[in-house]
Amino acid sequence: MADQETVTELTTDEAPIKARGLEGVIALESELSSIDGDKGELVYRGYNIHDLAEHATFEEVVYLLRHGELPTQDDLDDFTAHLRSERVLPAPVLDLLRNTPDDAHPMAVLRTAVSALGLYGDEADTMEEAANHRKADRILAQIPTIIAAFARLRKGKDPVDPLDRESMAHNFLYMLNGEEPGEAAEKTFDVCLVLHADHGLNASTFTSRVIGSTLADMYSAVSGAIGALKGPLHGGANQEVMRMLMEVDERGADPAEYVRERLADGERIMGFGHRVYNTMDPRAAILRDMVKELSEEAGEMKWYKYTTAIHETMEEEVGIDPNVDFFSGSTYYQLGLDPELFTTIFALSRTAGWTAHLLEQWADNRLIRPRAQYVGARNRTVVPVEER
Ligand code: COA
Repeated sequence: MADQETVTELTTDEAPIKARGLEGVIALESELSSIDGDKGELVYRGYNIHDLAEHATFEEVVYLLRHGELPTQDDLDDFTAHLRSERVLPAPVLDLLRNTPDDAHPMAVLRTAVSALGLYGDEADTMEEAANHRKADRILAQIPTIIAAFARLRKGKDPVDPLDRESMAHNFLYMLNGEEPGEAAEKTFDVCLVLHADHGLNASTFTSRVIGSTLADMYSAVSGAIGALKGPLHGGANQEVMRMLMEVDERGADPAEYVRERLADGERIMGFGHRVYNTMDPRAAILRDMVKELSEEAGEMKWYKYTTAIHETMEEEVGIDPNVDFFSGSTYYQLGLDPELFTTIFALSRTAGWTAHLLEQWADNRLIRPRAQYVGARNRTVVPVEER
């Protein structure tokens, strides 16, 4: 474990450990997803991510994460019907979006709007398990409506009402573009949602569980998790990756040279490196193939070429593998999504994980409350303000 040492200064019966960034610390037990960082393996509830990406829809994966089993057809029909019935936003939340500055970051808007949803849910503070499942459905069903509505409003367009049929992927692309997506776009987007649905105790999931462990409500926990995901070291990286690819394109730069220069300046290349994987993130491998297919279908190979060149250069220069964000950026871009929306798509999908983790946390709750090692000054005496 990196940076671990015994902290003798703390007075406690057990010898506490210190790990910067909680690296390597096991804070809780979870049955939701497991990661083998050496093999590059991600598993949800016992199912490999490759198997799920190929054979299950996002709605099936959400059900799996929440209930531990893949749904039967009847279970799935009931579950998707309930999700569809919850898609429409409360009018005041739509008004809030209409009154939000167009240049606000979509992640800040999503964080605010999810918090506002809690003001209009009559069960917001009920901690009964069935009510928490209903809230999880409601938050998951309304997040796509929030993202799509603000994406249109910031461009001066009217929001499009959600459909009361079709999958979440289909309905989202419809609300965003005002026209129903083709099968290939819907399938690609659905796979992206499956890939991002859960990922162990990552920073935003940990945030949601910390908030949940105080027995605060689900809206508070999900808004907090969105705040954590917004950062460029976590979910914000996918937008930064696309920014980099666009900069390479605009400058007509050689992508390999561009990366070498940035590394020489001591910069991090977004979309590379991971706290848990020591090899290529399996989600990145699936997305890389999708970027290639999308590029071939569109007859536009430049994004694929840039990503391949940057990937090879990073391997040669620093030996750091790409993570999920490196390829999700160009996948979303080729689906016609604006880069500023990328992290909100990650949030849409990860809401599946956050809400399932909250239900797991509450099933056997213990307040999450680590300690800090005090390294500040001691034994000082207050000098009255007029004498300082
Ligand atoms: N580009 C260049 N160098 C990188 C790097 C990157 N993206 N990621 C890590 N490194 C280097 C660090 O500079 C460090 O080198 P050093 O030991 O010579 O100082 C070494 O690799 C270890 O990095 P460290 O920051 O200790 O790893 P971490 O586990 O704390 O960081 C991330 C994990 C994800 C925060 C980090 O890899 C990163 O910042 N990546 C870019 C942001 C990103 O893509 N985030 C999405 C994650 S899914």
